[in-house]
Amino acid sequence: MPLLFFQRNFGERRILKDWNIKEILKWTSNFFKTKKIENARLNAELIISHILKINRLNLYLQFDRILTVSERKKIKELILRRATFEPLQYVLGECEFYGNRIIVNSAVLIPRPETELLVERIIKDNASVKSFLEIGTGSGAVAIALKMNFPESKADASDISEEALAVAKQNSDNNGTQINFIKSDIFSEIKEKYEIIVSNPPYISAEEYGNLSPEITEFEPKIALLAKENGLFFYKKILSEAKEFLCENGCIYFEIGSKQADKIREIALKNGFENISVFKDLNGFDRIVRIKNK
Ligand SMILES: C[S@@+](CC[C@H](N)C(=O)[O-])C[C@H]1O[C@@H](n2cnc3c(N)ncnc32)[C@H](O)[C@@H]1O
Repeated sequence: MPLLFFQRNFGERRILKDWNIKEILKWTSNFFKTKKIENARLNAELIISHILKINRLNLYLQFDRILTVSERKKIKELILRRATFEPLQYVLGECEFYGNRIIVNSAVLIPRPETELLVERIIKDNASVKSFLEIGTGSGAVAIALKMNFPESKADASDISEEALAVAKQNSDNNGTQINFIKSDIFSEIKEKYEIIVSNPPYISAEEYGNLSPEITEFEPKIALLAKENGLFFYKKILSEAKEFLCENGCIYFEIGSKQADKIREIALKNGFENISVFKDLNGFDRIVRIKNK
């Protein structure tokens, strides 16, 4: 049964009747179920509506619409990719972050919902922001959301990966923001002081990395996830140099791993920072650290 859709359309051995949306939706959903893809029906809906460039509701309103050969071919390609457990966001080539459409590919981490809390915290804390630097911008999602909320700010965002910066620049252009992207190994190419330094750095330890699901380790960039020194390398490095790049009343915002808050507090204190606050995510896990310069 599962191979029927592919044979009918691409094996060319036998031409059966055309496929309408209702049939392809049911077929895809069943196929994903056999492959043990979670939320099979939703995945099917999102892939088909993406290719047909209609929203999910319209799939149901256009149940009898017959698919063209080209549409079937494109849908097939995405179904096969998803069936290998490639994350849906990479398969679709995009996701949503803080209400903005963000292009993603294998060069960048898929922005996570909990990272929206980082943006939200900064917005809650600050009526306006003169300047900010995001370290490790990846897709640019965080910097774009901040620049949209603080249009008056001077916005810089850095990453060590040129491929990631190309994606970030494209996302910034698509969302109509003006951000200066800098290729830099943490602070290596940074020359200015900022009111806010924000980072969701790699923070997964080698041990934790070994326990992540293949959906993450096989598809998302290792450089975006793994950090030496038990996941703490970037916090140590950033905090040891931050005073040079932070305005007098400046503030650092980090996303952190749920078990890292105590260690990061220790590192911050060691580097002369005393005003440290930790905020939890919706699941009650420590997720955001705010470190004020004064
Ligand atoms: C966890 S991802 C965060 C991506 C994005 N900011 C987000 O929150 O979705 C960490 C990012 O840090 C970048 N990175 C890794 N090592 C770096 C370094 N030494 N200097 C600057 N950026 C680095 C990675 O390329 C990756 O884009």
